[in-house]
Amino acid sequence: MILITGASGTVGREVVKALSAGGTRIRAGYRTRPQNLPTGIDGVALDYDRPETIRPALAGVETLFLLSNTVAPEASVVDEARKAGVKRIVKLSVMNADKEQYTFAKWHRASEKHIESSGLGWTFLRPTGFMQNVINYMAGTIRGQGAIYSSVGDVGIAAIDARDIGAVAARVLTSAGHEGKAYELTGPTALTYDQVAEVLTRVLGKPVRYVRITPDQYKQAAVGAGTPEAYADALVDLERHYARGGSSVVSPAVKQLTGRDPIPFEQFARDNAAAWR
Ligand SMILES: NC(=O)c1ccc[n+]([C@@H]2O[C@H](COP(=O)([O-])OP(=O)(O)OC[C@H]3O[C@@H](n4cnc5c(N)ncnc54)[C@H](OP(=O)(O)O)[C@@H]3O)[C@@H](O)[C@H]2O)c1
Repeated sequence: MILITGASGTVGREVVKALSAGGTRIRAGYRTRPQNLPTGIDGVALDYDRPETIRPALAGVETLFLLSNTVAPEASVVDEARKAGVKRIVKLSVMNADKEQYTFAKWHRASEKHIESSGLGWTFLRPTGFMQNVINYMAGTIRGQGAIYSSVGDVGIAAIDARDIGAVAARVLTSAGHEGKAYELTGPTALTYDQVAEVLTRVLGKPVRYVRITPDQYKQAAVGAGTPEAYADALVDLERHYARGGSSVVSPAVKQLTGRDPIPFEQFARDNAAAWR
């Protein structure tokens, strides 16, 4: 049995879809959105802030796909997984976590280290920024103002479609040879936000422009949208990492692991155009 945590979110949903397309038996952990699970999936309520939900979710599980927003709760899930007889963990991490050059990398590396010392088998998936961020965090201003706001400037990000992470995760979760490995995952090209805006303009048939703001303006906007301050600081730090070119390099891993090229942003935009209209 494979337990997919965060199965109702951006990545987890794609992992569930990719695994169920292959007929693998899975259990899908959600916190508040069971409606996001595909029909017919064995769902389990799992909230890291309610420890009593963790053990039942892990019962009979051999392989754990571990995902969390704030990363800190992962340590206690790993400890419970070991006690429950889980053999292997595939953890969703971030690009270049081992270099610890930005806050999210530091958070994720601490969790990776905890997993490495747990005695369980492990594989780390380290994706760059998700293309889905352009929906999840930017759709409002794209729809309302035809604008994308970010402090990154004129530097490319090799963003990845979460569908590719789902495909990679499904491969890693269901085949041998991935133990002790960390895979850096990117899309096929690094695009600047000007280039992202150009693609959206073409796909949506209406002007979309990129507006460069300062890191401080970016933080204020995040806090204003309800993001806790410490998390907003981590986002600003990530933008600085992007601006240094920290996610501009393209990795061959998606093709190596799935046998097909990663999805280009233009395809992602066409498939999701309704989200910005
Ligand atoms: N966004 C990026 O560009 C990016 C890039 C690289 C790595 N990452 C990493 O990706 C992870 C986030 O993945 P995502 O975008 O798929 O997340 P997401 O869309 O925000 O979904 C979060 C998932 O976790 C569940 N969840 C939230 N709080 C929980 C809790 N306390 N206990 C148990 N489950 C909980 C949610 O359940 P409900 O929805 O049912 O409440 C949902 O299924 C983070 O670790 C982040 O650092 C993100």
